[in-house]
Amino acid sequence: MNIILLGPPGAGKGTQSQRLVDRRGMRQLSTGDMLRAAVKAQTPIGQRAKAVMDAGELVSDEIVSALISAELEAMDEDTGAIFDGYPRTAVQAAALDEILAKHGRSLDHVIELEVNEDALVERIVGRFSCANCGKGYHDIFERPKVEGVCDVCGATEFKRRPDDNEETVRTRMAEYRAKTAPILPIYDAQGIVSRVDGMADIEAVTDRIEAILS
Ligand code: AP5
Ligand code: MG
Ligand code: ZN
Repeated sequence: MNIILLGPPGAGKGTQSQRLVDRRGMRQLSTGDMLRAAVKAQTPIGQRAKAVMDAGELVSDEIVSALISAELEAMDEDTGAIFDGYPRTAVQAAALDEILAKHGRSLDHVIELEVNEDALVERIVGRFSCANCGKGYHDIFERPKVEGVCDVCGATEFKRRPDDNEETVRTRMAEYRAKTAPILPIYDAQGIVSRVDGMADIEAVTDRIEAILS
Protein backbone atom coordinates (compact mmCIF):
# COMPACT_ATOMS: atom_id res chain seq x y z
CA MET A 1 0.00 0.00 0.00
CA ASN A 2 1.27 3.47 -0.91
CA ILE A 3 -0.40 6.57 0.45
CA ILE A 4 0.06 10.33 0.52
CA LEU A 5 -0.79 12.40 3.59
CA LEU A 6 -1.61 15.91 2.48
CA GLY A 7 -2.32 18.96 4.57
CA PRO A 8 -0.90 22.32 5.60
CA PRO A 9 1.88 22.74 8.18
CA GLY A 10 0.77 21.39 11.54
CA ALA A 11 -2.12 19.37 10.06
CA GLY A 12 -0.75 16.20 11.68
CA LYS A 13 1.03 14.50 8.76
CA GLY A 14 4.07 13.56 10.83
CA THR A 15 2.04 12.58 13.89
CA GLN A 16 -0.23 10.27 11.91
CA SER A 17 2.66 8.84 9.87
CA GLN A 18 4.45 7.77 13.04
CA ARG A 19 1.30 6.03 14.22
CA LEU A 20 0.80 4.19 10.92
CA VAL A 21 4.43 3.09 11.01
CA ASP A 22 3.87 1.60 14.50
CA ARG A 23 0.57 -0.06 13.65
CA ARG A 24 1.03 -1.19 10.07
CA GLY A 25 4.77 -1.54 9.59
CA MET A 26 4.66 1.00 6.77
CA ARG A 27 7.57 3.32 6.14
CA GLN A 28 7.33 7.11 6.53
CA LEU A 29 8.99 9.08 3.75
CA SER A 30 9.10 12.68 4.97
CA THR A 31 10.99 15.07 2.72
CA GLY A 32 11.02 17.56 5.61
CA ASP A 33 12.79 15.04 7.85
CA MET A 34 15.21 14.10 5.05
CA LEU A 35 16.05 17.75 4.44
CA ARG A 36 16.54 18.45 8.16
CA ALA A 37 18.91 15.46 8.33
CA ALA A 38 20.83 16.89 5.36
CA VAL A 39 21.03 20.31 7.03
CA LYS A 40 22.31 18.73 10.24
CA ALA A 41 24.93 16.69 8.38
CA GLN A 42 25.89 19.80 6.34
CA THR A 43 25.75 17.93 3.06
CA PRO A 44 25.71 20.02 -0.16
CA ILE A 45 21.91 19.59 -0.33
CA GLY A 46 21.57 20.62 3.31
CA GLN A 47 23.68 23.70 2.75
CA ARG A 48 21.50 24.75 -0.17
CA ALA A 49 18.23 23.96 1.61
CA LYS A 50 18.82 25.58 4.99
CA ALA A 51 18.03 29.21 4.18
CA VAL A 52 15.01 28.23 2.07
CA MET A 53 13.57 26.12 4.89
CA ASP A 54 14.25 28.77 7.51
CA ALA A 55 12.27 31.20 5.35
CA GLY A 56 9.38 28.72 5.02
CA GLU A 57 9.68 28.50 1.25
CA LEU A 58 9.84 25.37 -0.89
CA VAL A 59 13.11 23.64 -1.73
CA SER A 60 13.59 22.81 -5.44
CA ASP A 61 11.53 20.05 -7.00
CA GLU A 62 14.66 18.27 -8.29
CA ILE A 63 16.21 18.00 -4.85
CA VAL A 64 13.17 16.57 -3.07
CA SER A 65 12.27 14.15 -5.87
CA ALA A 66 15.85 12.84 -5.88
CA LEU A 67 15.63 12.27 -2.11
CA ILE A 68 12.36 10.34 -2.45
CA SER A 69 13.65 8.29 -5.36
CA ALA A 70 16.76 7.24 -3.42
CA GLU A 71 14.70 6.21 -0.38
CA LEU A 72 12.30 4.10 -2.44
CA GLU A 73 15.24 2.50 -4.21
CA ALA A 74 16.52 1.25 -0.86
CA MET A 75 13.14 -0.03 0.32
CA ASP A 76 11.87 -3.57 0.40
CA GLU A 77 9.23 -3.86 -2.33
CA ASP A 78 6.66 -5.30 0.09
CA THR A 79 6.87 -2.39 2.53
CA GLY A 80 4.18 0.24 2.10
CA ALA A 81 5.16 3.90 1.77
CA ILE A 82 3.61 6.90 3.50
CA PHE A 83 4.52 10.07 1.65
CA ASP A 84 4.56 12.86 4.24
CA GLY A 85 5.04 16.35 2.86
CA TYR A 86 5.64 15.13 -0.69
CA PRO A 87 4.51 15.85 -3.37
CA ARG A 88 4.02 19.57 -2.78
CA THR A 89 3.84 20.90 -6.36
CA ALA A 90 2.40 19.70 -9.67
CA VAL A 91 5.94 19.00 -10.89
CA GLN A 92 6.59 16.79 -7.84
CA ALA A 93 3.28 14.97 -8.36
CA ALA A 94 4.34 14.10 -11.91
CA ALA A 95 7.79 13.03 -10.70
CA LEU A 96 6.21 10.78 -8.06
CA ASP A 97 4.12 9.03 -10.73
CA GLU A 98 7.32 8.21 -12.62
CA ILE A 99 9.23 7.12 -9.53
CA LEU A 100 6.39 4.82 -8.42
CA ALA A 101 6.01 3.31 -11.88
CA LYS A 102 9.73 2.59 -11.97
CA HIS A 103 9.36 0.55 -8.78
CA GLY A 104 6.15 -1.20 -9.84
CA ARG A 105 4.16 0.69 -7.22
CA SER A 106 0.98 2.70 -7.47
CA LEU A 107 -0.92 5.09 -5.22
CA ASP A 108 -3.76 3.61 -3.20
CA HIS A 109 -4.95 6.61 -1.20
CA VAL A 110 -4.41 10.32 -0.85
CA ILE A 111 -5.58 11.43 2.56
CA GLU A 112 -6.24 15.11 2.99
CA LEU A 113 -6.18 16.30 6.59
CA GLU A 114 -8.69 19.14 6.73
CA VAL A 115 -7.84 21.70 9.36
CA ASN A 116 -8.67 25.17 10.51
CA GLU A 117 -5.62 27.30 9.77
CA ASP A 118 -6.10 29.49 12.82
CA ALA A 119 -5.50 26.51 15.12
CA LEU A 120 -2.33 25.48 13.34
CA VAL A 121 -0.10 28.22 14.63
CA GLU A 122 -0.81 27.04 18.19
CA ARG A 123 -0.04 23.47 17.21
CA ILE A 124 3.21 24.39 15.57
CA VAL A 125 4.64 26.73 18.15
CA GLY A 126 3.93 24.09 20.84
CA ARG A 127 5.62 21.27 18.96
CA PHE A 128 8.82 19.54 20.09
CA SER A 129 10.40 16.14 19.56
CA CYS A 130 12.78 13.72 21.21
CA ALA A 131 16.37 14.57 20.25
CA ASN A 132 17.26 10.88 20.32
CA CYS A 133 14.44 8.97 18.57
CA GLY A 134 12.41 11.76 16.96
CA LYS A 135 9.09 10.97 18.67
CA GLY A 136 6.87 14.06 18.31
CA TYR A 137 5.18 15.85 21.22
CA HIS A 138 3.23 19.00 21.96
CA ASP A 139 3.30 21.35 24.97
CA ILE A 140 -0.47 21.04 25.41
CA PHE A 141 -1.83 18.26 23.16
CA GLU A 142 0.71 15.46 23.57
CA ARG A 143 3.00 15.70 26.56
CA PRO A 144 5.37 12.89 27.54
CA LYS A 145 3.79 10.61 30.15
CA VAL A 146 6.61 11.40 32.56
CA GLU A 147 7.60 15.06 32.44
CA GLY A 148 10.91 15.53 30.59
CA VAL A 149 11.32 11.85 29.62
CA CYS A 150 10.62 10.42 26.14
CA ASP A 151 7.84 7.78 26.22
CA VAL A 152 9.56 5.73 23.55
CA CYS A 153 13.26 5.71 24.37
CA GLY A 154 13.64 7.31 27.81
CA ALA A 155 15.90 10.12 26.56
CA THR A 156 15.69 13.48 28.33
CA GLU A 157 16.82 15.82 25.54
CA PHE A 158 14.19 17.41 23.30
CA LYS A 159 14.42 19.78 20.35
CA ARG A 160 12.35 22.36 18.47
CA ARG A 161 12.46 23.22 14.75
CA PRO A 162 13.96 26.57 13.71
CA ASP A 163 11.06 27.13 11.26
CA ASP A 164 8.42 26.71 13.98
CA ASN A 165 7.83 30.38 14.67
CA GLU A 166 4.71 32.32 13.80
CA GLU A 167 6.15 34.36 10.93
CA THR A 168 7.65 31.37 9.12
CA VAL A 169 4.49 29.35 9.68
CA ARG A 170 2.48 32.02 7.87
CA THR A 171 4.81 31.75 4.87
CA ARG A 172 4.61 27.94 4.95
CA MET A 173 0.81 28.16 4.92
CA ALA A 174 0.85 30.57 2.00
CA GLU A 175 3.14 28.19 0.09
CA TYR A 176 0.72 25.34 0.82
CA ARG A 177 -2.25 27.31 -0.46
CA ALA A 178 -0.49 28.55 -3.58
CA LYS A 179 1.43 25.44 -4.67
CA THR A 180 0.28 22.32 -2.85
CA ALA A 181 -3.51 22.58 -2.49
CA PRO A 182 -3.80 22.94 -6.31
CA ILE A 183 -2.48 19.38 -6.83
CA LEU A 184 -5.51 17.83 -5.10
CA PRO A 185 -7.67 17.91 -8.26
CA ILE A 186 -5.11 15.63 -9.98
CA TYR A 187 -5.83 12.95 -7.39
CA ASP A 188 -9.54 13.75 -7.17
CA ALA A 189 -9.76 12.95 -10.88
CA GLN A 190 -8.33 9.49 -10.05
CA GLY A 191 -10.95 9.02 -7.32
CA ILE A 192 -8.38 8.24 -4.62
CA VAL A 193 -8.78 11.21 -2.26
CA SER A 194 -10.31 10.77 1.20
CA ARG A 195 -10.87 13.75 3.46
CA VAL A 196 -10.36 13.45 7.18
CA ASP A 197 -11.22 15.97 9.88
CA GLY A 198 -7.76 16.88 11.15
CA MET A 199 -9.22 18.94 13.99
CA ALA A 200 -10.43 15.83 15.82
CA ASP A 201 -8.14 14.50 18.53
CA ILE A 202 -5.04 12.57 17.50
CA GLU A 203 -6.49 9.12 18.28
CA ALA A 204 -9.73 9.81 16.42
CA VAL A 205 -7.82 10.95 13.32
CA THR A 206 -5.82 7.70 13.37
CA ASP A 207 -9.02 5.65 13.65
CA ARG A 208 -10.48 7.46 10.64
CA ILE A 209 -7.36 6.84 8.57
CA GLU A 210 -7.25 3.18 9.62
CA ALA A 211 -10.86 2.81 8.46
CA ILE A 212 -9.94 4.23 5.06
CA LEU A 213 -6.94 1.94 4.65
CA SER A 214 -8.70 -1.26 5.64
P1 AP5 B 1 7.82 19.71 6.64
O1 AP5 B 1 8.75 19.13 7.62
O2 AP5 B 1 7.08 18.78 5.77
O3 AP5 B 1 6.85 20.70 7.38
P2 AP5 B 1 5.32 21.11 7.10
O4 AP5 B 1 4.66 20.66 5.87
O5 AP5 B 1 5.30 22.57 7.33
O6 AP5 B 1 4.52 20.28 8.10
P3 AP5 B 1 4.82 20.09 9.60
O7 AP5 B 1 5.85 19.04 9.78
O8 AP5 B 1 5.03 21.41 10.23
O9 AP5 B 1 3.39 19.59 10.07
P4 AP5 B 1 2.79 18.14 10.24
O10 AP5 B 1 1.56 18.09 9.39
O11 AP5 B 1 3.79 17.06 10.08
O12 AP5 B 1 2.31 18.26 11.76
P5 AP5 B 1 2.70 17.40 13.05
O13 AP5 B 1 2.16 16.02 12.89
O14 AP5 B 1 4.12 17.56 13.41
O15 AP5 B 1 8.64 20.71 5.70
C1 AP5 B 1 9.51 21.67 6.27
C2 AP5 B 1 10.17 22.48 5.16
O16 AP5 B 1 10.99 21.60 4.35
C3 AP5 B 1 9.23 23.16 4.17
O17 AP5 B 1 8.80 24.42 4.64
C4 AP5 B 1 10.13 23.27 2.93
O18 AP5 B 1 11.05 24.32 3.06
C5 AP5 B 1 10.91 21.96 2.97
N1 AP5 B 1 10.25 20.86 2.25
C6 AP5 B 1 9.79 19.68 2.78
N2 AP5 B 1 9.24 18.91 1.85
C7 AP5 B 1 9.31 19.61 0.68
C8 AP5 B 1 8.88 19.34 -0.65
N3 AP5 B 1 8.24 18.19 -0.97
N4 AP5 B 1 9.14 20.27 -1.59
C9 AP5 B 1 9.79 21.42 -1.30
N5 AP5 B 1 10.22 21.74 -0.06
C10 AP5 B 1 9.99 20.85 0.93
O19 AP5 B 1 1.78 18.13 14.14
C11 AP5 B 1 2.10 19.44 14.61
C12 AP5 B 1 1.90 19.51 16.13
O20 AP5 B 1 0.51 19.39 16.43
C13 AP5 B 1 2.60 18.39 16.91
O21 AP5 B 1 3.16 18.94 18.08
C14 AP5 B 1 1.49 17.40 17.24
O22 AP5 B 1 1.70 16.78 18.49
C15 AP5 B 1 0.24 18.27 17.28
N6 AP5 B 1 -0.92 17.59 16.72
C16 AP5 B 1 -0.95 16.79 15.61
N7 AP5 B 1 -2.21 16.36 15.37
C17 AP5 B 1 -2.99 16.90 16.36
C18 AP5 B 1 -4.39 16.81 16.67
N8 AP5 B 1 -5.25 16.08 15.91
N9 AP5 B 1 -4.85 17.51 17.74
C19 AP5 B 1 -3.97 18.25 18.51
N10 AP5 B 1 -2.64 18.35 18.27
C20 AP5 B 1 -2.16 17.68 17.21
MG1 MG C 1 5.85 17.02 9.66
ZN1 ZN D 1 12.83 9.23 22.25
